[in-house]
Amino acid sequence: MAAESVNHGRRRFLTASTVVVGGVGGVYAAVPFIAAWKPSAKAVAAGAPVSADISKLAVGQQLTVAWRGRPIFIVRRSEEMLAALPGEDGRLKDPQSAVEEQQPAFAKNAHRSLKPDVLVLVGSCTHLGCSPKLHTEVQPEPWDAEWKGGYYCPCHNSKFDLAGRVYEGSPAPTNLVVPPYRFDGDSRVIIGESEGAA
Ligand code: FES
Repeated sequence: MAAESVNHGRRRFLTASTVVVGGVGGVYAAVPFIAAWKPSAKAVAAGAPVSADISKLAVGQQLTVAWRGRPIFIVRRSEEMLAALPGEDGRLKDPQSAVEEQQPAFAKNAHRSLKPDVLVLVGSCTHLGCSPKLHTEVQPEPWDAEWKGGYYCPCHNSKFDLAGRVYEGSPAPTNLVVPPYRFDGDSRVIIGESEGAA
């Protein structure tokens, strides 16, 4: 199990991938939030699970942790964020998460997660692996006049909704990957251990 400490070795990617989040409809304050744990070298080599404390993760915020050398995004979604998801189905490549290898079986649902409010994604674009950025504001954006919040990958203009589902017209072929994970109580997520099929 991962020890709890700041992940200095991954400071660069954490700085790049952790997002200062404005609120949906201007409701949520912009608050930066960074936290991670650094597994031992032995644990990293073994691809050990990592533990993330989400007890202080506020609605609209994203926490980034490292697992198997990749960023894992954990987002606390609001009711409004979840309510916007069905309306995007008609603009998505795989709205029903039919590509099975993109998520464990437990996340093949409308919100692509175990708990509706907590989204867990591998933060690597399914095009060429860049780290997309979270933009939760519901407002016209240069990449989408009908933007409802989600992830935008500026290197080649792929965009994903707030469940990590890829939009039509994006070079990314598939939805963002949901990693295996489980909850340990209400305040901790274990990445790398699955409650269902991984
Ligand atoms: S790597 Fe994300 S769009 Fe190319």
